[in-house]
Amino acid sequence: MGLIVRESDPTNLETPFDIAQSYLTPTSLFYIRSHFRAPTLDERSYRLRIDGAVRVPLSLTYDEIRQLPSETRVATLECAGNSRVFLVPQVGGAQWELGAVGNAEWTGVALRSLLERAGLEQDACEIVFEGADRGTPSEPPVPPGSISYARSLPRHKAMEPEVVIAYQMNGRDLPLDHGYPMRVVVPGHYGMASVKWLTHIEAVKEPFAGYWQTSDYGYWDRVGEQPVRRPLAEMQIKSEITRPAVYETLAPNRVYTISGAAWSGEADVTDVEVSADGGHTWAQAQILDAIQRHAWRRWTYDWLTPSKPGRYTLLARATDADGNVQPDVHDPNYGTYVINHPLPIDVFIDGQPD
Ligand code: MTE
Repeated sequence: MGLIVRESDPTNLETPFDIAQSYLTPTSLFYIRSHFRAPTLDERSYRLRIDGAVRVPLSLTYDEIRQLPSETRVATLECAGNSRVFLVPQVGGAQWELGAVGNAEWTGVALRSLLERAGLEQDACEIVFEGADRGTPSEPPVPPGSISYARSLPRHKAMEPEVVIAYQMNGRDLPLDHGYPMRVVVPGHYGMASVKWLTHIEAVKEPFAGYWQTSDYGYWDRVGEQPVRRPLAEMQIKSEITRPAVYETLAPNRVYTISGAAWSGEADVTDVEVSADGGHTWAQAQILDAIQRHAWRRWTYDWLTPSKPGRYTLLARATDADGNVQPDVHDPNYGTYVINHPLPIDVFIDGQPD
């Protein structure tokens, strides 16, 4: 069993969510979302430049970074376009089902310690991360020529202890497709913030409005009645059903354990409910994993399957400690991103009751 190919060049692969049931997603099954071909960077010539609004610009080698005190953190990364296939009517873009999400252990250096070492200036408001990959993007409006992949973080998030410049994933050096030799990992934010093949960090004094947070990976907010474009950032509360898989056939009148995982951007998941009748009634699921900030929590629900054969719609709905609940419907201000309404998993009940 391997990853599901959504696009082969550049590499875009999806986790088969019904078989990836472990707390930590194995690296070999972790989804890959890349806009351009992976650049090949050599450890020996690798440099991470940190400049812009800093007092002491730095250029660090791979070995220098590996020798600094390290941090290991578990974080769930979800691509902002995960579950796009559930949007009705159908939309363009990579047709992700349930598996553009995974939970991994990331090891690296706290970004904050590097920014402190570089002497971040008081009036730096954002930190821009740039990867070494380049190409022509696809979401209009498209700038002419080839561009790199770059995203910014507000200063306050960049200084949070959880943001790491990672060189390991699940205890091993980062594989090429996950950003070797270095990437930033931004727990709590959609995956697009975790820039891979990171070679440049720049502190800026004006908000950054690059392609990857305006044309793409942006959403519509409102100032008064005026729509304004903002960068996508924190993941929104969401739960997904791992098992059963869509259109699976289950036996009638048996206890079937429905399983899944739930996550939220900046608050802990506290509650998951399951509906087996398309959302008319809801019952409490049991959460399996202890709270670990920025990591998903798996859950199960023992469902006594109906004795009447037919098609049934399963849904899961999570709530977090800030009181956020998954919305009933997708918010169109997010375009083809942030698909966090309860996703219908239709199953069939068929066969003889015991
Ligand atoms: N970083 C670079 N340099 N180039 C990219 O195309 N894709 C982003 C992010 N970082 C991307 C990138 C997106 S959209 C996501 S969802 C995550 O990487 C995916 O990380 P993964 O491929 O390790 O799962």
